[in-house]
Amino acid sequence: MDVTDFSELPRIVTPLLAWYRGTARVLPWRSDPKPYHVWLSEIMLQQTRVEAVKGYYHRFLQKLPTIAALAEADEEVLLKLWEGLGYYNRVRNLQKAAQVVVKEYGGELPADYEALLKLPGIGRYTAGAISSIAFGLPCPAVDGNVLRVIARVTASEENTSKEPVKRNFESALAASMPQNDASAFNQALMELGATVCLPNGAPRCEACPLSHVCKAHQLGNELAFPLKDQKPARRIEQRTVFVVLSENRVGIQKRPPKGLLRGLWEFPSAEGTLDRDAAICYLKTIGLTAHNLVPLGDAKHIFTHLEWKMTGFAVECTPCSDCSLTWVTLQQLREEYSLPGALKAYTATLGSLLSEK
Ligand code: ADE
Repeated sequence: MDVTDFSELPRIVTPLLAWYRGTARVLPWRSDPKPYHVWLSEIMLQQTRVEAVKGYYHRFLQKLPTIAALAEADEEVLLKLWEGLGYYNRVRNLQKAAQVVVKEYGGELPADYEALLKLPGIGRYTAGAISSIAFGLPCPAVDGNVLRVIARVTASEENTSKEPVKRNFESALAASMPQNDASAFNQALMELGATVCLPNGAPRCEACPLSHVCKAHQLGNELAFPLKDQKPARRIEQRTVFVVLSENRVGIQKRPPKGLLRGLWEFPSAEGTLDRDAAICYLKTIGLTAHNLVPLGDAKHIFTHLEWKMTGFAVECTPCSDCSLTWVTLQQLREEYSLPGALKAYTATLGSLLSEK
């Protein structure tokens, strides 16, 4: 495997910046790049698209307008603000880091790449993004999108899943980037990766300002890059989910304090795909006498390493005294309890199963 030839990389700077100035999306954290705002947006944008993030971003800052407010927030409030965004450790780390920032830096993020890197939840990419976008420091910010753009421009034959290869990409970018325009340069690369140099068979080379420099394009083989490790196959779990109703309330429970979706709330569920009779038996074991059982259909949710294949029932119940569910109204559920996006198909049925009052 040949090492990557970065010698043409400086040629991307001018066309990339011109393209960015002409096409950049107007985003709230771009117009006013306060360090806290940039940090929050970068954490939210990990694994989540810009369009999905915008609403969350505004709601979060309305409720927690400063790093100090974030440091002091209740966990339930944080999880509610993150409800449906997924990867909930992101918001837990955000709070841990906020607590450090209050304690050690008087509530303001340090304008220092190495200091940022030491904060919980901030890795090399995020430290580079905050350093460049919020503070104008000439640090690279290499995420999956940027790796793909650079691997294609250079037709790199190196495996971009390997840490030393990523570091080499960072060094090459650090050497080529405009020292006084790092924010625009990094965001332009991210933007190009997110909107033009797309993965999974769909690059829009006709719209790309770098196609004349791009070695993968010259080879007519954009899809061969980047080289990376195969993802391991996902484990599949079948579950039967119960939307349990009693006296115009729904029964929910808190997930355990360790493991997947820890600390979030959920509907009770059983392993496997249960039929009506098995469902009624299972409900008995958790202290519920089922009256009216209505199938809610199938749904699936894909996590990083796991897929849930679910079937659901709505069920009118009489709870007995040892039933451990928490009974909440529709309004309480909407305002106070955070349920994972994985259960969206079933949460969405509640509007027609419960009345507002
Ligand atoms: N993805 C993550 N951060 C971004 C940013 N600042 N601009 C465009 N895409 C991004």
